[in-house]
Amino acid sequence: DTATLGELAEAKGRYFGSATDNPELPDTQYTQILGSEFSQITPENTMKWQYTEPSRGRFDYTAAEEIVDLAESNGQSVRGHTLVWHNQLPSWVDDVPAGELLGVMRDHITHEVDHFKGRLIHWDVVNEAFEEDGSRRQSVFQQKIGDSYIAEAFKAARAADPDVKLYYNDYNIEGIGPKSDAVYEMVKSFKAQGIPIDGVGMQAHLIAGQVPASLQENIRRFADLGVDVALTELDIRMTLPRTAAKDAQQATDYGAVVEACLVVSRCVGITVWDYTDKYSWVPSVFPGQGAALPWDEDFAKKPAYHAIAAALN
Ligand code: XIL
Repeated sequence: DTATLGELAEAKGRYFGSATDNPELPDTQYTQILGSEFSQITPENTMKWQYTEPSRGRFDYTAAEEIVDLAESNGQSVRGHTLVWHNQLPSWVDDVPAGELLGVMRDHITHEVDHFKGRLIHWDVVNEAFEEDGSRRQSVFQQKIGDSYIAEAFKAARAADPDVKLYYNDYNIEGIGPKSDAVYEMVKSFKAQGIPIDGVGMQAHLIAGQVPASLQENIRRFADLGVDVALTELDIRMTLPRTAAKDAQQATDYGAVVEACLVVSRCVGITVWDYTDKYSWVPSVFPGQGAALPWDEDFAKKPAYHAIAAALN
């Protein structure tokens, strides 16, 4: 029972990782587990546009590098998150004239991908570009560049680094439905046209008792298109307060998610969106909900942790 989640996943040819954020790094109890239990790290915020290009043409990777350096010192791989997204986008991007935005987007991608070349396993190139009904989200990129912006983003990323795996990442695409169908059709058409895409990230911000029944089938249909799949931001929230029954449901759900990944060989890894309830994003965004992670706020392992370990075993 001494193997870490990272080691158990490695034995299955997968990674098991955690997101982390810079303000958490002075917490030594936190970094001790972060550095030992996981084989992969995702910077939760500081690779986003607002941090990396706060004003046009001025790039700053200081905070992102703090996390990449830490991961490397612990022998952990790193996923890059994220290059093109409508959130955490500095307001100057909104003011770029339509005729210049494609160039601005390409410059941002080129600079950031080049900067981290050789140090990352994956990039989330485009994040959250679809609405629930499968239509395109009307982001500034969609409105000013048009449908082609996603393909252009992937081409720019590939030109900057031929080796890093390029992912499309989104939420509510874990089960089969209009949104995941739209992503599926996009990946299929990218493959047909030779537009470089290597993977699909399913964020997996899930609710206890509501893991989509079609998760495994959905992972498999993407894999069958010839792309990898990663579960990139896993957490399974509940209505607070925690109870033993809710913890048990959550543990069942975590186990089911891990099993769904393990049965598809192209499901390459799982990342929890931080590992302790002390630093989860959930309570701030979903009022009244929380306790979504495998460790509690005092760093005690919850039933979810043991279910993950058992499923990986
Ligand atoms: C969240 C972070 O966890 C928060 O700290 C931040 O305030 C907002 O962003 N989908 C994503 C992630 O792709 O980048 C988001 O992360 C959660 C939803």
